[in-house]
Amino acid sequence: MRLIVTKLGVGLYSAAYIRRAIQAFAPTAQKPFVLGLPTGSTVLDTYAILRTLAQERLLSFQHVITFNMDEYIGLPEDHPQSYHSYMRRNLWSTVHLPPEHIFIPNGNAPDLQAECERYEQAIARVGGIRLFVGGVGRNGHIAFNEPGTPFNSRTHVTQLLPSTLEANARFFQNDISRVPRQAITVGIGTILDARELLFVASGVKKAAAVAHLITQEPTLDWPLTALKLHPHATLLADLDACVLLSGDIKTQLDAAREQDPHAEEWVLTVEDAQ
Ligand code: GLP
Repeated sequence: MRLIVTKLGVGLYSAAYIRRAIQAFAPTAQKPFVLGLPTGSTVLDTYAILRTLAQERLLSFQHVITFNMDEYIGLPEDHPQSYHSYMRRNLWSTVHLPPEHIFIPNGNAPDLQAECERYEQAIARVGGIRLFVGGVGRNGHIAFNEPGTPFNSRTHVTQLLPSTLEANARFFQNDISRVPRQAITVGIGTILDARELLFVASGVKKAAAVAHLITQEPTLDWPLTALKLHPHATLLADLDACVLLSGDIKTQLDAAREQDPHAEEWVLTVEDAQ
């Protein structure tokens, strides 16, 4: 896998990456580009830049189909912290995605199990996800796959761990009791099935998860480490998220920074899992 360390913040690079991927694919009505998308504060800049690109007609979403990773269970769709609301604010309302191209789990479905199956089928029906973009939880979760989730898991209902409830309480008036306890999430297996992965981490709170991914073998204790099992995975991180790197990769990063101190980012190759 690749580690890309950016000096300029993850927004610019990730938005440019997504734009390049869509445009290189040259999507059409018959051959749409299927994009997996996250929520979270890390990717707010990414979405801001994608909105600008769309408004300036530098990127079209006409032939893009999007699948969101997850949604809280039991939170009304129009609650400001639902992922439906987040996506409406940050992407859907501006970029003219055809409504029939938008997929996100329904956390209020009467039959949640059927909803999970429906979601997997919808992904399969469009031929799978081409590029899955993701964020990282402080405890290393990806989407809402908490530590311990099997790497072959599919879309499922999950119980959020206390560490996640605590981390996300900031969006619910710092009141942990207001954070929904459950969510629907794509599985780690669903993520690994995508043809390409771009995960994004910024800030020191993500440094432990990043260090586990880059310097250790895959382990269920840190779901992000599943990325090492994918043939086309990239982790995009800022310098703060890299502060706990050690060993060979730290040496490589230090050498790259010394050799090209004015670079906007440094691209490092990380050995895949054995
Ligand atoms: C939530 C989402 C994850 C996201 C994580 C990180 O838990 N379910 O998909 O990666 O938050 O969020 P932030 O970017 O706000 O740190």
